[in-house]
Formats: sequence, C-alpha cells, structure tokens
Amino acid sequence: MAPRILIVDDDESVRDVISVLLKEEGYNCVVASGAEMALDVAAAEETPLVISDMKMPGRDGMWLLENFRAKYPDTSVIMLTGYGDTEAAVDSLRKGAVDYLLKPPRLTDLIRAIERALAKRRIEMARRRYQKKLERKVRDRTTELRAALKNIANTYQNTLLALVAALDAREHETSDHSQRVVRYTTAIAAKLGIAGQDLEEIGRGALLHDIGKIGVPDAVLLKPSKLTSAEWAEMRKHPEIGYQMIQNIPFLSIPATIVLSHQERWDGAGYPRNLQRQEIHIGARIFAVADTLDAMTSDRPYRKGTSFANAIHEIQRCANTQFDDEVVRAFMAIGEEGLIRIKREMAAEKAATAAELEARARHAEAEHADADAAVENALAKAKANPEEAPEPL
Ligand SMILES: [Fe+2]
Repeated sequence: MAPRILIVDDDESVRDVISVLLKEEGYNCVVASGAEMALDVAAAEETPLVISDMKMPGRDGMWLLENFRAKYPDTSVIMLTGYGDTEAAVDSLRKGAVDYLLKPPRLTDLIRAIERALAKRRIEMARRRYQKKLERKVRDRTTELRAALKNIANTYQNTLLALVAALDAREHETSDHSQRVVRYTTAIAAKLGIAGQDLEEIGRGALLHDIGKIGVPDAVLLKPSKLTSAEWAEMRKHPEIGYQMIQNIPFLSIPATIVLSHQERWDGAGYPRNLQRQEIHIGARIFAVADTLDAMTSDRPYRKGTSFANAIHEIQRCANTQFDDEVVRAFMAIGEEGLIRIKREMAAEKAATAAELEARARHAEAEHADADAAVENALAKAKANPEEAPEPL
C-alpha cells in the first residue's frame, strides 16, 4: 500500500495541484489547510510524510515542524519555501526537516525528495528496531547473568555455612554461635553506616572468624581442663591458620583480614600481631564486641549465660581498652531490646527452618508409603486374577 502523504498549505490551489499530481503517481494523499489541522490529521492515522508550506497565517511551517518532531518523531517533514527564503529553509533543516523545496516545486524534484525521504525513514526505522532488539537482548542477558551470579553467591555462602557448621560440630557445638555473631556484627556495622558489599564482607569475616581452629589439634581444642602455656601457644595460632586458608580466595580477601585480626584488642593487648586502634580492621573491631556479647549471654555446659543488661554494662566498661569506643557507641545505640530481638528473631527463623525440613521429610515419607501401598495393591490384584496381570515391562 502506498504511504500516506499529508500536504499542508493555506493556499487551496497549491494543495490541490500537488495532491492531484501525487495521486496520479500512485501516492495516497491527504490535505490540511493549516499547521494545527495537520496535527489533527496525523493524530487520526499514521502519517509517514508531511509536505508543508513554510509561510502560513497563524501557526507557520516552523511551528508544524517542531510539533511533529516532538509528537511524531517517525514522521518525515519536507518544507516548501518561497524564493529568497533560504535562511528559513536552512533553519528548518537544522530543526529536523529532511529536505526543502522552492515553491512551486517541479514534479520530478518533488518525487525525488519524497522517495529520498521515505527511503531514509525506512532505514532510520529499521535501525531503531534493530537497536531496540539489541537493547532488549542486552537487558535479557544482564538479567540472566545477574541470576547466575546470585546463584553462585548463594552457593558460596552455603558452602561457607557448611564449613562453619562442620567446625562447630567438631567442638560439639551448634553453629548458632557463629550465626548469631554474624547478626550482631552486621547490626553494629549498619549502625556505623556500613552498607552493601562492605557489610557483606564484614559479615563473612565474622562467620569465618574461627575457621583456623581446623588446624588446632583435638587434644588442645577439645581439652576439658586448663590449657598449658604450650597448648595456649598452639591455640593462639588459629587466626593465622584461618588467614592462610582463605586469603588467596579473591572474594574472601577482606574476610581473611578480619579472621587474622579477630583476636586483636583496641589497646594492643591482643594477638597475633598486637595491633592497636585503627590498625585493626573495622570489621574485626566490631566483631570483638559482637563475640563478647554472644559469649556472655549464651549458656555453656559449665555455666549459665548472663543477662543482656550485664553483658552490655561489661562491654561499655571495656570501651577504649578492649574495644573501640566508637564501635561500643554504635552497639549501645542498638540497645538491649534491639539486641534481644536479634537473638529471638534468629531462634524463630531456625525453628521455622527446622519445622519446614521436618514437614518436607514427613511429606516424602507419606509419598513413599502411598507408593508402597499402590505396589502391594497391584501385586494382590495380579495374584487374584492372573489373566489380568499387566504385561511385564
Ligand atoms: Fe577466635
């Protein structure tokens, strides 16, 4: 089908001559007597090309051009200008007209301009379609890539959790301690304004803090009585062992630093490097407070945990000696209730996960029993009516 061409001129005779000529050449023409009417005509149906007079009473050709560029950017506009109006013609090109012709245009010039404009428009639209398609493809691939990366990150995280659970199991402990310390650590870090990847890395450092205990012999790690000084020396190697284990894994390089310095103290009395103050990674300074809180408020086989109020008081007392004062302030800002809520929420989440696992196991068991019953049934039937027995597979 021939493309629709809109001819805009206030002079009726010009409109008629051009549209009759173009119709004879096989074009589909519509006319408008002014710029505003032209916009109404274009609103009714897709109009690939407009040929418009420049000088018209009221809204002129330049106004029409600007409005078409804004509302119908896919419509090409050819301007018709009077003799001696070259400046306006050039200006129209600058504003987005595809071409201009002097009035009255010769038929051959007009057709050539129309064909050029339509061909240019076709190419431009194909290019835009291709670009959109390309953008969609890039968007889809990015979404897929993000999902894959998230999957990898989840796998990493689950691997680390399994590793820590194995370590805790060796000490005959549940992994609740490690995970609670992660929660307290990240809550304090968040209060200090740490967010995003930094927060994740600090959380990972807290989770893995004692990973080096893997290298401490059972005789030392699990010794129920007091350690000798030689055994203490052995035990004190665990931050370095942990650091050596994970420092070469690129996404664990910051957590490795936290692992190495998790036993350091603000006043320099910690180990293994006697670091002090800001020399200690902020993640390790935060961890120290979180770890003390959890150690004090958790029950041990040989003693009951103290109250959160007591633990908070003790940590506050050790600000500026054992702990970074600023970290203690952020910790205090969470408050007793906030800290208790973190512990409760974690316990509730754990109970919910355990219940879900049990429900899943029960469901699987019931399905198994159903399948067994169906097989028994089929066998009984086959015994009763040997002729109807199903063909062996
Ligand atoms: Fe430790």
